[in-house]
Amino acid sequence: MKSVSRLFLSLFLLTATNACTENQGASEEVPNSPAATDNLRIETLRRAAKKNGLLPVSEMQSPGEPHKQKIGGELFASKSLSLNGQISCQDCHLDKFGSTDGLPNAVGAGATGEGIARLKSGGQIVPRNVLPLWGRGGPGFDTFFWDGKVQKAEGKVLSQFGTMAPSDDPLVVAVHLPFVELREMISDNPSVRDTLVKEDVGAAEYVYTNLTERVQRDPKLGTRLAKAYQKPVDQISFGDIGDSIAQFIRHNFRIQKTRFHKFVFNSGPISDSELRGGILFYGRGRCSACHTGPYFSDFEFHSIPMPQLGFGKNGFGNDEGRYNVTFDPADRYLFRTPPLYNATKTGPYGHSGSEVTLESSIIAHFDPLRGLDPDELSVEQRTIFYIRLKASPSDKIPAALSDREVSDLVAFISMLDF
Ligand code: HEC
Ligand code: HEC
Repeated sequence: MKSVSRLFLSLFLLTATNACTENQGASEEVPNSPAATDNLRIETLRRAAKKNGLLPVSEMQSPGEPHKQKIGGELFASKSLSLNGQISCQDCHLDKFGSTDGLPNAVGAGATGEGIARLKSGGQIVPRNVLPLWGRGGPGFDTFFWDGKVQKAEGKVLSQFGTMAPSDDPLVVAVHLPFVELREMISDNPSVRDTLVKEDVGAAEYVYTNLTERVQRDPKLGTRLAKAYQKPVDQISFGDIGDSIAQFIRHNFRIQKTRFHKFVFNSGPISDSELRGGILFYGRGRCSACHTGPYFSDFEFHSIPMPQLGFGKNGFGNDEGRYNVTFDPADRYLFRTPPLYNATKTGPYGHSGSEVTLESSIIAHFDPLRGLDPDELSVEQRTIFYIRLKASPSDKIPAALSDREVSDLVAFISMLDF
């Protein structure tokens, strides 16, 4: 079905190009015809965006409950919600960096400060690039994390909680995880590990109980949360904490009208470069083969051979991505297609933050060897890179693009900021 619609789009683009040539031929008689050419391309882009699932923002937001969102925001910013009492969600998801941290790999427990200061302060490295929170938990946004370790499929939430998932809302389940990631919000040293492992009820339960009691004892947070959930303070559960943070994320980071929405749905303006970029994005550049739908992600998993940076989830410079969740060899080195909202603010890019600019992230899709000196890689790094190159879907990778085309694509992606 998808390939049929793409075929239709290419035919339409082809007709549009022919029509442009005809228009130009007729320009002697009709002085305004260059504008008519632009109009045709403008209409082509609007049509392609709608065909690929762009929705008006009113259809991407859910109202939620303001009093729960408010206390959720306080919990999101509260350091007392980490076992060591030193780190909050906000330390890695900062407004300043478009809800990320501005670093290639996150720095968790033990770190202080923001951005580069965290790296210098010597905390625990979390071996993945921080994902932004825009649109997370909006309608249809059901697959979380670079490897999709939380995912709603056929009405069920699949996650490491198995049948004990704390909610049927995948965002609520995703919100439960950072608290129990050793390097993220708990320091990773032998005594902490020992304490966690010794607990019969399971490590996660131990952390959740501990944090819930802490919130219950907190005169401000406890009372407000209890009021929002209309129950006595001693009845507050960790589920309420997770739910209110999810409500906050869903509201605070909701998708808002971008210049591209205004262009598509309200006849807003577009520059020449943005228009060229948009037509490439949905046409010859093949970006929309994966970056599609209202969030610019198909929520599927693909291998784009961006070099691996840092220790990696599997250690020693290796991150096997989706395979870590499914253990299916065919899933090695696949990562969820990242949505592209506010991308100008969320660098560095890719699952390990190995791409510094939007330009180089795009180039890595079709010319992965550019900017890479094989002699600077170890044998292990070269071997992994080779496997990742083989895993990339040759039938889908974008056409080779010129530098000007890449900067047109960046201009187009900048239209998705808000
Ligand atoms: C140490 C830094 C750090 C802290 C603290 C942190 N996060 Fe994150 N967050 C990350 C990283 C890194 C990722 C990507 C991890 C991955 O995909 O494997 C991420 C991903 C996420 C995602 C998934 C987004 C998506 O696109 O799927 C959500 C939701 C999230 N974090 C919420 C939170 C909440 C809520 C808290 C506080 C309880 C929190 N984070 C604390 C670093 C952090
Ligand atoms: C085959 C599917 C696919 C196609 C086609 C594709 N992408 Fe991607 N894109 C991905 C995946 C998967 C990643 C993440 C790779 C990783 O982290 O290892 C990504 C990453 C990116 C990033 C970095 C975003 C971030 O937040 O880290 C940008 C920007 C991007 N793509 C733009 C484009 C553009 C522009 C095109 C068209 C020229 C394109 N992509 C074509 C799948 C695709």
